[in-house]
Amino acid sequence: VPTATADIGLVGLAVMGENLVLNLESRGFTVAVHNRTVARIDDFLAGRAQGRRILGGRSAEEFVALLKKPRAIMIMVRAGSAVDDTIELFTPYLEPGDILIDGGNSHYLDTERRASRLADRGLLFVGTGVSGGEEGALNGPSVMPGGHEAAWPHVGPMLQAIAARTPDGTPCCDWVGAGGAGHFVKMVHNGIEYADMQMIGEAYHLMRDVLGLSAPEMSDVFARWNTGRLGSYLIEITANILAKTDDVTGLPLVDLILDTAGQKGTGKWTSEAALTLGVPAATIAEAVFARAISALKDERVAASRVLEGPATSFEGDKDAFLADLELALYASKICSYAQGFALMGGAAREYGWRLDFGRIAHLWREGCIIRAVFLDDIHEAYMEEPRLPSLLLAPFFQRATSEASAAWRRVVSRAVLSGVPVPAFSSALSYFDAYRSAKLPANLLQAQRDYFGAHQYERTDAPRGQFFHTDWTGEG
Ligand code: ATR
Repeated sequence: VPTATADIGLVGLAVMGENLVLNLESRGFTVAVHNRTVARIDDFLAGRAQGRRILGGRSAEEFVALLKKPRAIMIMVRAGSAVDDTIELFTPYLEPGDILIDGGNSHYLDTERRASRLADRGLLFVGTGVSGGEEGALNGPSVMPGGHEAAWPHVGPMLQAIAARTPDGTPCCDWVGAGGAGHFVKMVHNGIEYADMQMIGEAYHLMRDVLGLSAPEMSDVFARWNTGRLGSYLIEITANILAKTDDVTGLPLVDLILDTAGQKGTGKWTSEAALTLGVPAATIAEAVFARAISALKDERVAASRVLEGPATSFEGDKDAFLADLELALYASKICSYAQGFALMGGAAREYGWRLDFGRIAHLWREGCIIRAVFLDDIHEAYMEEPRLPSLLLAPFFQRATSEASAAWRRVVSRAVLSGVPVPAFSSALSYFDAYRSAKLPANLLQAQRDYFGAHQYERTDAPRGQFFHTDWTGEG
């Protein structure tokens, strides 16, 4: 029987799993590893893990025996049934108080289900978001754990040790909440990431097709934006991408890449959650739909030959338009974050989670794909007023949207007049305009519902909650 010397175990030696193991080991922890395909364990031990405090457990029993108690096992396998299979494989060897941590991109409702099922057996289940890709996993990801809080005192120090840090040194890892809260927050992170990427794409589209800028020229614009309020990982890599030339043709590589986007489903999950919870998050959903329409390449090519649009010639001041574009991107981004935070608020109410939005903004400040200087402003907004109904109402963001408003409207108008699709910019602007409208046209909608379905309506001159029905046609 091997001696139990490992501080933590990790199952699933794909790239993310391997990198997390190396990260944990580099912070002083001894790590036991296991993988369904055993050859992968041997390859890892003989390769990247060589000479480090990393132990292989070739069977579930051998692996569990390597772990100090209470045992903590991090699961990094493909989301879905593989997580259930892995849990079933290890639970016979575990005892009450042991901890299972799912670090994959699991759906939060699966995490809720697993947490309550394992609680029945006395096991502590943690579902954690891990963002930052392969590089983040190795050097410092953003980590968003939720589930059984009793696990936190034991796993917190390990997860915080491997996490990225904000400029003031705070780990980008903190307890998020009960049940599926950690995976929910990670899911919203990904939804916001979809919207960020879509908006950057729309800015690029306008620069390319309306202003006629070349890829290197656009690279310079993004590099400049990266030094200001838009400073972020996604803007930075966009500048780098636009500067890259293809080795074979010498052309900008981006111009050679087929314009059909893939997706793995977390943007869809975010949008589904928004629909289920009744929280308006149209900009995030538009970003998912934009990928879907991009995937209709053949249909679009055929349609482009028969469906007409306006000419895209531009005769204005290009620098002035670029200045407008920066503000439009910034204001739209504020709206998509406002939607994402409102969605977390809706989930917190629905599931009874106590989410700390200021802390969540800081979890995303470094390590993850949406890391940005802008998250400091969100952090501060929620520190000043934790009960903010919307990010749009924070004084800082009130000023920001007010200053951007005219530029934002010019950009959306120009895009519409030029026939360039801007679903994220325009839905963000509509969200903003709807949110700041004391009076929307839903009075007419209620009248229609009452007309055809006797659904009743409330009156402006009667107390809320008192319902009326009208015989609209005089026939009933
Ligand atoms: P990759 O292509 O990088 O291997 P993947 O197929 O999604 O990605 O698998 C990621 C991890 O999940 C791998 O460690 C994989 O184990 P194998 O190396 O044995 O394929 C693991 N995994 C996938 N399905 C699994 C299952 N049903 N049970 C246990 N582990 C599973």
